[in-house]
Amino acid sequence: MALHGRAVMLALAENEAVKRTLVQNGMSKGMVQRFVAGETLDDALAAARRLQTQNINTALDLLGENVATEAEASASTNAYIGVLTAVAEAKLPAPYISIKLTALGLDLSDELAAVNLTRILTAASAYPDALVRVDMEGSAYTQRTLDIVRAAHQDFGNVGTVLQSYLRRTDDDLAQMNADGISVRLVKGAYAEPATAAYPDKADVDAAYVRQMKELLMHGFHPAIASHDESILRQAKRFVREQRIENSRFEFQMLLGIRRDLQEALAAEGYFVRAYVPFGVSWYPYFMRRLAERPANIGFILKNLVK
Ligand code: FDA
Repeated sequence: MALHGRAVMLALAENEAVKRTLVQNGMSKGMVQRFVAGETLDDALAAARRLQTQNINTALDLLGENVATEAEASASTNAYIGVLTAVAEAKLPAPYISIKLTALGLDLSDELAAVNLTRILTAASAYPDALVRVDMEGSAYTQRTLDIVRAAHQDFGNVGTVLQSYLRRTDDDLAQMNADGISVRLVKGAYAEPATAAYPDKADVDAAYVRQMKELLMHGFHPAIASHDESILRQAKRFVREQRIENSRFEFQMLLGIRRDLQEALAAEGYFVRAYVPFGVSWYPYFMRRLAERPANIGFILKNLVK
């Protein structure tokens, strides 16, 4: 969608009446289930098991962001440690979780978020091949997130992060992450950003994505190519074929409920595919970001609200 349309939709998400109506009715009217596995860990594990039968791996994301107290940050940290244990006990493939540093207290202090991240990484170290992927939030957090991830990576190999192609700074960040050997998930970016920070034109974002994807596939450490864009996926497949990059050196990632056909097709072709499986009661901001990505989704929400 045009990037200004996304900004309008994200602004609408802040409207209290819209928020109240959606939070009260969204899950029960089935609007949210397309993008969110459910409100409980059991819902997420059930989704992971279903996907596993199609050879699609999962990254579990316990929804929640921007906590306001140390107690909430500690509760999210404990909940994430619980997710790691539950995935291991469910005998699913190696635990792989996605976390947001603002859920671990980044709005309170960098130190708090770093300490909580360390607790999660320590717990994850008990499981061979586990990975903790630190999601990237709005650009006000980019530098702080990268600093915390880089510091953590000196002690833990099981941490990776996310870079957003829409940010003007990303080519430089990518070079730094590759030099540090930190695994990157490359995404286009989902937040409303000013033109000083991000490319306003989708064509520039797409071009940056392709450029950075090639750089990552050549020089990155087990990168994740995270997109539902068919043209990008075609270019990725062509590039790895031409450069003789083995399928085991990277993975494709997509979001639960988006382009399931592509997820299944890539898995059937023998690529490593991972679906991002969000769950939990705090689904509202995630859900609104997904709606903002596509004009058709706005009609979908209005139709469901008046039903
Ligand atoms: P694009 O937006 O161009 O969409 C390509 C096609 O995909 C569309 O034409 C449509 O068919 C389909 N599509 C995309 N979004 C859709 C939607 N919401 N509903 C229906 N169809 C849709 N962002 C971020 O800022 N920080 C992060 O940490 C992450 N993490 C993350 C993890 C994973 C695994 C994925 C796949 C994505 C993210 N994102 C993210 C989101 C990312 O930034 C981006 O907003 C979406 O992936 C959409 O961009 P595409 O690359 O799919 O392209």
